Amino acid sequence: MEALQKCAGIIRSSGTVAFPTETVYGLGANALDVSAVKKIFKAKGRPGDNPLILHIAKTDDVEKYALSFSDAAKLLAKIFWPGPISLILPRNTKVPDTVTGGLDTVAFRIPSNNIARELIALSGVPIAAPSANLSGKPSTTEGTHVIEDLYGKVDAIIDAGKCMVGLESTVVDMVSSPPAVLRPGGIPFDKIKMIIPNLQKQYSTSEDQPPRSPGMKYRHYSPEASVIIVNGPDNETMKKINSLTRQNSRSGVLCSLETIDNYECINKICIGSRKNSEEIAANIFDSLRMFDKLDVDVIYSEYFGDGSMGDAIMNRLIKASSDIIGL
Ligand code: TXA
Ligand code: MG
Repeated sequence: MEALQKCAGIIRSSGTVAFPTETVYGLGANALDVSAVKKIFKAKGRPGDNPLILHIAKTDDVEKYALSFSDAAKLLAKIFWPGPISLILPRNTKVPDTVTGGLDTVAFRIPSNNIARELIALSGVPIAAPSANLSGKPSTTEGTHVIEDLYGKVDAIIDAGKCMVGLESTVVDMVSSPPAVLRPGGIPFDKIKMIIPNLQKQYSTSEDQPPRSPGMKYRHYSPEASVIIVNGPDNETMKKINSLTRQNSRSGVLCSLETIDNYECINKICIGSRKNSEEIAANIFDSLRMFDKLDVDVIYSEYFGDGSMGDAIMNRLIKASSDIIGL
């Protein structure tokens, strides 16, 4: 409690605090203070046109910073907040351009993690926070990951162990018509579509179209080794990966509990059970980071598209990868 008071004081006096949320760790600063927000971009090495999410403590706070809050958006907030969903709404002039990358919209989220909510409430201001990783690296889901990436670059780090969900919030654009999910995440698309029947998927990272979510155009989530995804039936994937790893002793394999015994390679990491996509989601960033500790320069990964978190898992894995081999 005392430590949280101290961190809230740092936020109020223009500092940066890395804090846990149920999705991933966030790197927070007072969203209303331009000089504080600039420190986030600097610490992460993040491009200035990539907007930040406003983390708030209660739904009523939306009205303070949004130009409008539609009934559909209110319904999503009522059902899914606190939780891993960010709602993009039209912003008012209290939100600095630095937070939104100059866009006239802003994303809001109430995290369900108690430490995060307490920190926001004690700070008394909305906290702008991207994931607390160096730009381009896998997001951080353990305090130790944050220390690896940001120690010495931020004013405080709250280490509260492992994040439950393990990948970021679902980003829903409630300004566009029809509304669209721009980034798959902690709340599956189908669950939101049950509430908003005309909801669209807009995850594309197409080069020739300006991305609607600026973060989608950057290479992301990459460990030091390159990642190559192999997508095919289990026994063909096994044969292919074994033949590839035989040719390079500095290779690794990212695989599941069900298939790990198929691989000859010694640098193999189990991401979880194929029967449990929540478990795979919770481990994806940690698994990618674990390869940085091994002596590998290429990681061959299985495909993990099944289950309710499959979309979100593969969105992150594909962005981390340099190639996909289809069998
Ligand atoms: O779970 C999460 O969302 C975590 C935790 C810390 O809350 N935060 C997070 O922030 O993942 P960040 O900055 O790493 O990713 C936010 C994504 C980016 O792809 C950004 O481009 C998009 O949301 N975004 C934010 N505001 C937007 C806006 N107004 N319009 C379109 N996209 C937006
Ligand atoms: Mg991020």
